[in-house]
Amino acid sequence: MNNYNLVTKSIIKELSLIVGKKNIYIDKKNLKSYGHDETENLNFPPEVLLKPLNTKEVAEVMNLAFLNNIPVTPIGARTGLSGGSLCVHGGIGLSMERFNKILKIDLDNLQIKVQPGVITQTLQEEVAKEGLYYAPDPASRGSCFIGGNIAENSGGPRAVKYGVTKDFVLNLEVVLPDGKIINTGADTLKNSTGYNLTQLMVGSEGTLGIVTQATLKLLPLPKYNKLILVPFSSALDACSAVASIFKSGVIPSALEFMDRKAVDFTIKYIYEAQLEMSNSTKALLLIEVDGNNPDYLMDEMEKILNVVEAHNCEENILFAEDEAQKEQLWFIRRRIGEAVKVNSIYKEEDTVVPRYKLPDLLSGVKKIGDKYGFESICYGHAGDGNLHVNIIKGNLSEIQWEEELPKAIREIFKLTVSLGGTISGEHGIGWVQKSYMDIAFNDVELKLMSNIKKVFDPKNIMNPSKIF
Ligand code: LAC
Ligand code: ZN
Repeated sequence: MNNYNLVTKSIIKELSLIVGKKNIYIDKKNLKSYGHDETENLNFPPEVLLKPLNTKEVAEVMNLAFLNNIPVTPIGARTGLSGGSLCVHGGIGLSMERFNKILKIDLDNLQIKVQPGVITQTLQEEVAKEGLYYAPDPASRGSCFIGGNIAENSGGPRAVKYGVTKDFVLNLEVVLPDGKIINTGADTLKNSTGYNLTQLMVGSEGTLGIVTQATLKLLPLPKYNKLILVPFSSALDACSAVASIFKSGVIPSALEFMDRKAVDFTIKYIYEAQLEMSNSTKALLLIEVDGNNPDYLMDEMEKILNVVEAHNCEENILFAEDEAQKEQLWFIRRRIGEAVKVNSIYKEEDTVVPRYKLPDLLSGVKKIGDKYGFESICYGHAGDGNLHVNIIKGNLSEIQWEEELPKAIREIFKLTVSLGGTISGEHGIGWVQKSYMDIAFNDVELKLMSNIKKVFDPKNIMNPSKIF
């Protein structure tokens, strides 16, 4: 059991000596506002909120917390979907928002050195000015921090061709729970030197240490892309087209699935989202190819069209003609989560299976929904086999929602694992999925993970009660 100490007045005094008086907050409004992310309507405020400026300050805060047995939760842009940044034990909330500098774009090595509070889209736009590309692009890229992306190993639509955050992280500076500062690797593309601490940190959800600086890999920016929206009268046909597209020899730069309801919701509730659809349309695939040779992209699109036609797509395929139209389609896709959240009580599950199993996953989820009487809105990164399942409360009673639904979610996750997949593709386990970890891992595997946690964080003060 944890016997954490409360943040007393004298601790607050010591903390303000470290970060400065104006970077420490104890007023209700700020604590509440930093007590939530985008996970359902959960709110766990810290006892004190700090906004440190540099690694030295973070290290001193951690050392103080370590000596006094006070829990610390790193906080990014609060766009997370598994509750990773919620201060579930109160304690110190450590907002990394002042770590917002791009330190160096290394044009010789195609790398970037950044602080964790840089907004992902800002990073992408800054490197694009140099003709370079940072591919991971979660739906929240306009507001999420790169540090949060590293903590959760975020993905997004472009992951299907270019990889997720982990594939771009080369080296990290990390403050450990006792305040020691380490580097996890080297600024190299290859590294076979000892255990891979860099990749252990990526996706560890702020439970092992606090990332204070990252070296990331960059790519040349692809010059051209083409985007189509393909309607289907059967969602299962749309899903089964996905694996066939890859089998035809094409790797799209995005291959997104949206069921009809996901798009209907977005058009209805998000101002500026507009799209005409036939009544018969039940699902859509948004498919992008990118590269440097427009003729080659046309060939790839031809191959994709042959595949979707063979999978019974509807006739009215939309070819985005210009940047404005592309932006509109991406706008609709990226706003689905927000549209669902604003308008219903819901729970989001982040299932992932090998992509060929996507039709089995979708039909299984709908069957479980029928059994338990809930409606789900499904969408996501079909090319990665990553389906976001948004379960809507609708007319379910409180008892059904609180007591029956966890059973339904267990069934969904068991199905996911039985299909060769797992229970989170890109949102993480955090606070809300941890009771399902036993579905993905056996006791031996879980014990190994909790032993790793103990080595890094013997007092269990670093974002405690997350993942396990
Ligand atoms: C998306 C977020 C929810 O794909 O991951 O929109
Ligand atoms: Zn997603």
